[in-house]
Amino acid sequence: MTDLSPFMLGAHALFAVLWVGGMFFAYQVLRPSVPGIEPPPERLKLWDRVFARFFHWVWIAAVALPSTGYWMIFVDFQGFRGASLHIHWMHGTGWLMIVLFIYLYMKPYALFREAVAAENWEDAKANLERIRKIVLTNLVLGVITILLGSTGRLW
Ligand code: HEM
Repeated sequence: MTDLSPFMLGAHALFAVLWVGGMFFAYQVLRPSVPGIEPPPERLKLWDRVFARFFHWVWIAAVALPSTGYWMIFVDFQGFRGASLHIHWMHGTGWLMIVLFIYLYMKPYALFREAVAAENWEDAKANLERIRKIVLTNLVLGVITILLGSTGRLW
């Protein structure tokens, strides 16, 4: 442990909360609240604005989580050999989340943005559905990763 260890663990936990909490809010709170908005293209425009702001923060989390995680592994645990099983699992599920997010951003989100800009609402809806499925997958992975990270040292 060094003087920086509490800062790294604290930043790691905060970025995990930001990313997974944001997905929970989008999926469980915002999504069911959107259908009342009329006319329907306004819903797609709202998602466009929400994603632009939220994904900006997810990019920061997707860089900060592995950076602080590797720092802890190499400074606090002297490498992967010194890290217990839950950290190896978190390493795997964490990277899966990051790769899925990069795919989401480069493919369905890029197509969604293009479709909204072109007012092609059918395509926008189809890509929103793809984004929804990936966000749900990442939300489940995120909950598992948080449970691994926070309870792993107890088992
Ligand atoms: C991608 C590579 C990642 C690496 C290398 C990594 C590594 C680590 C390490 C070394 C710890 C300290 C564990 C301990 O002291 O027992 C930790 C804790 C934790 N990690 Fe990760 N992690 C990664 C990704 C993630 C992701 C994506 C999330 C959630 C979205 C996450 C959530 C957590 C949580 C909640 C803790 C516990 C924090 C606490 O005790 O307050 N990690 N991680």
